[in-house]
Amino acid sequence: MQKQFTVEEAFGFPGAAIPCRGEDVPNEFTPEKNDRYVFRKDVLRVFRAFMESEQVALELQGPKGSGKTSLAEQYFARLNLPLLSITAHERTEPGDLIGYYVINDEGKTEFLPGPVTKAAMEGWGVLINESNAMPPGTATSLNEFLQGSAVYIPELRQTIKPKPGFKVICTTNPEDDASYRGRYLQDAAYADRFMKMRVDYMDSEAEEGLLTDVLGDYGHEDPEPMAKSLVDVANRVRTMYKGGTCRLTISTRALVNWAKRTLDFAGIEQTGVNPIYYALDLTVCNHTRDVNSVKAVKETVLQVFGVPEVVEVANAASSD
Ligand SMILES: Nc1ncnc2c1ncn2[C@@H]1O[C@H](COP(=O)(O)OP(=O)(O)O)[C@@H](O)[C@H]1O
Ligand SMILES: [Mg+2]
Repeated sequence: MQKQFTVEEAFGFPGAAIPCRGEDVPNEFTPEKNDRYVFRKDVLRVFRAFMESEQVALELQGPKGSGKTSLAEQYFARLNLPLLSITAHERTEPGDLIGYYVINDEGKTEFLPGPVTKAAMEGWGVLINESNAMPPGTATSLNEFLQGSAVYIPELRQTIKPKPGFKVICTTNPEDDASYRGRYLQDAAYADRFMKMRVDYMDSEAEEGLLTDVLGDYGHEDPEPMAKSLVDVANRVRTMYKGGTCRLTISTRALVNWAKRTLDFAGIEQTGVNPIYYALDLTVCNHTRDVNSVKAVKETVLQVFGVPEVVEVANAASSD
């Protein structure tokens, strides 16, 4: 059953009495809640406005690991709303979105509605991750759906009139950024139908708060200074990346993993490597053979943390 929440109830902003539409209970397609998800006011304002509006389609545009996918998932999770998720790629076809034939248990062919058709029939959300990785022809096959119009599905011999609550959310990486390969510039008529929002990395204070919580949950006794330094490194590296002097960057996702792996590998210090660098290799640097970028990132760690990569090991075994 439908239920009206307030922004305070669903997202924890004290005193925010603004209403948002949800369900009283989740169903099997409602994403799992992550209580550590940080909702930014500016981002939430637009997302809520979209969800409450008559517009069907929203594009979340921003760099990898900035929280696009999780924003959509967590909004739906907090309001108990169902969301079907898929990730697009260069061989995604209209059928993958709208539906295709399968052989059923009786050996007969049967039309299986794809995630977009299913969401339209039920009044649910559908999340298409990396949507600009799919060919423009596939994207434009959604045009009627994106407008909320009734769509005739020949295989079903049926016209689908999307139910209220039907929303299509696409996440995209910047198409002008060389680190994202195979991203298409989509057709203007398709792009025109979307409400568009930028989701950049969160500000330092929010990111430090997140990292402090993550490290604390993970057993660190005094997480704040480490959280601050990790975020400081990330912001400096992001600036170098934007300026073109470093080909590596550090996303929020990478920061969370870097923090946890540093704690996992605390014992590696005994082999002569500082765990901060070891975990950074595992999370970010081992991806590339571009030694200059790796050097630039590691010099930033040295500046911020003030500890070198190589650790002096007391060589107790040498007398053996
Ligand atoms: N606002 C946020 N609050 C908490 N964690 C976040 C947030 N944004 C990003 N993260 C972390 O980064 C990871 C990647 O986020 P994701 O939404 O998958 O990024 P994107 O879709 O932009 O590539 C999440 O699983 C989470 O650990
Ligand atoms: Mg994503």
